[in-house]
Amino acid sequence: MAVFTRPAFLGLAVVILSVLAGAANAQLSPNFYSTSCPKLAGIVRSGMASAVQTEKRMAASIVRLFFHDCFVNGCDGSILLDDTSTFTGEKNAGPNANSARGYEVIDAIKTQVEASCKATVSCADILALAARDGVNLVGGPTWNVPLGRKDSRTASQSAANSNLPGPGSSLATLISMFGNKNLSPQDMTALSGAHTIGRSQCQFFRNRIYTETNINASFATLRQGTCPRSGGDSNLAPFDVRTADGFDNAYYQNLVEQRGLLHSDQELFNGGSQDALVRQYSNTPSRFSADFATAMVKMGNLLPTSGTQEIRLNCRKPN
Ligand code: HEM
Repeated sequence: MAVFTRPAFLGLAVVILSVLAGAANAQLSPNFYSTSCPKLAGIVRSGMASAVQTEKRMAASIVRLFFHDCFVNGCDGSILLDDTSTFTGEKNAGPNANSARGYEVIDAIKTQVEASCKATVSCADILALAARDGVNLVGGPTWNVPLGRKDSRTASQSAANSNLPGPGSSLATLISMFGNKNLSPQDMTALSGAHTIGRSQCQFFRNRIYTETNINASFATLRQGTCPRSGGDSNLAPFDVRTADGFDNAYYQNLVEQRGLLHSDQELFNGGSQDALVRQYSNTPSRFSADFATAMVKMGNLLPTSGTQEIRLNCRKPN
């Protein structure tokens, strides 16, 4: 067995730690395409601007696609792959089927990017930029997006089913599922603020509005109006009862008033460890904006640890 002197051991530990950090963070840099595709940021921004102008909800749908991409084997564009004869992809996994949307928006942006810089920019990076722009276009913060991700050649339906939290999750489950991705409880609470925009189908909040007691009574009645006890599973309701399509801190103000839409939303303010942070975000929008941007970069740094990667030419299929 090798015996290390103390300095040699420390040196080895530093090398191992930096290799591990490198694996988790590769060489992502905001300037990655500055010479190879200088117009990239403008192309993505205008693609998102026209999509959001057509339908405001699209900002939300793209942010969610990014989350669902990153939580399943890292941010590698795997959610964008259509099923093939050799694998069943993530699009039809439980959390995504008849729910995740916005694929055509990414396709349209990819077409523009390919016309400007052929075979240069990954679908995963386009999605990371599009999510940032979506947030900003509906009133949220902006941030520098580290770039240089590659696209997977495959997708995993089973990983999508097991890695993404469901709407019935407890606080402990949420903390542990985000912890599995090296995201702290604070990151989890900040990222959940994405539910300040977008819609949920009735089937995901029905149980809460009919059976739970930690819910504002008039809010429950309001939501019951379009989400019957049976039927209407796909009827939509906005997450944020105050400013449905604006990215702000109203999500947290809602939670403080027991107006969270999903069970998992209200878990963040239900007498547990995140109550104080929810109160802070509800009172100090700048703190929420800053923490949200930091956590989006952190989530975006999740990279695949195995498999072959490439720059996909068509986001829906491997080259
Ligand atoms: C904390 C655990 C989370 C759970 C349990 C959860 C669950 C859900 C559910 C059930 C929906 C509704 C889907 C539908 O009706 O089809 C939804 C929508 C959404 N989620 Fe989450 N989510 C979580 C975290 C996040 C995070 C971290 C983000 C982004 C950073 C995010 C962004 C969104 C957005 C923007 C929508 C609306 C999408 C649209 O309108 O198309 N969610 N989420």
